[in-house]
Amino acid sequence: MQVGERQASHYLYHVWKRLAYRHKWAEVLLYIMFFSGLLIWPFVEVIWQIKSLMLAIHMLVGMSFFLIIVTAFWTAHRTLLKASKKRFLSVTGSVIEILLILCSTSGIYLFFYGNPGNEFGFFIQNVHFYSSWLLTPLVFAHALRWSVLNLTRYFKK
Ligand code: HEM
Ligand code: HEM
Repeated sequence: MQVGERQASHYLYHVWKRLAYRHKWAEVLLYIMFFSGLLIWPFVEVIWQIKSLMLAIHMLVGMSFFLIIVTAFWTAHRTLLKASKKRFLSVTGSVIEILLILCSTSGIYLFFYGNPGNEFGFFIQNVHFYSSWLLTPLVFAHALRWSVLNLTRYFKK
C-alpha cells in the first residue's frame, strides 16, 4: 500500500470510529419518526391536513435521512458491543438492534404496499406500531446520559 493510500484509509478509519459516538442525529431522527408516526395513528384526532402532512414527512424522512443516517451510525456503533463491559448498554443495545430491524423493514413494507386490509397487512402494521413503541423509550434509556432529551446535561459545565 502506498503512503497516500495508507493515509486515506487511516483517515477513513478515524471518521468511522468517531461516527460510532455521533448518536445525536440518529436519536433526533428516531424521535421525529415516532412523533410523526403517532400523529398518523387513526386514534389520534388531528385535522386531516396535519395527518397528511405528517404521513408525507414520515414516509419521505423514513426512506431517506432515517435509513441513511441511522444505518451509518448503527453499523459503526455496534462495533462497541465487542469490547464493552457495560452490561445494561450491551443488553439494551442488542434489543434496540432487533427492534430497529423490525421497525424499519415493516416501515419499508408499509411504504411500498401499505395495509391492503388483509391479515398480513394488519400483522405488518402491528409489528411497525408495537416495535416503535418499544424502540423509542428503550433508545432514550440506553442513551440517557448523553441523550438529546436529557436537558440537565446542557446546564453542566
Ligand atoms: C424505514 C423507515 C420507516 C418507514 C418507511 C415508515 C413508514 C410508515 C408508513 C407508510 C406508515 C403508515 C402506515 C399505515 O397507516 O398503513 C407508518 C406508520 C407509523 N410509523 Fe413508520 N416508518 C418508518 C420508521 C418508523 C420509525 C423508526 C418509527 C418510530 C420509532 C415509526 C413509527 C410509526 C408509527 C407510530 C406509525 C403509526 C402506526 C399506525 O398507523 O398503525 N416508523 N410508517
Ligand atoms: C439509535 C440507536 C442508538 C443510540 C442513539 C445509541 C446511543 C448510545 C450512547 C449515547 C451511548 C453512550 C452511553 C453512556 O456512556 O452512558 C451508547 C453506548 C453503547 N451502545 Fe448504543 N445507541 C444506539 C443503538 C445501539 C445498538 C443497536 C447497539 C448494539 C448493537 C448499541 C450498543 C452500545 C454499547 C455496547 C454501548 C456501550 C459502549 C461502552 O462500553 O462505552 N447501541 N449508545
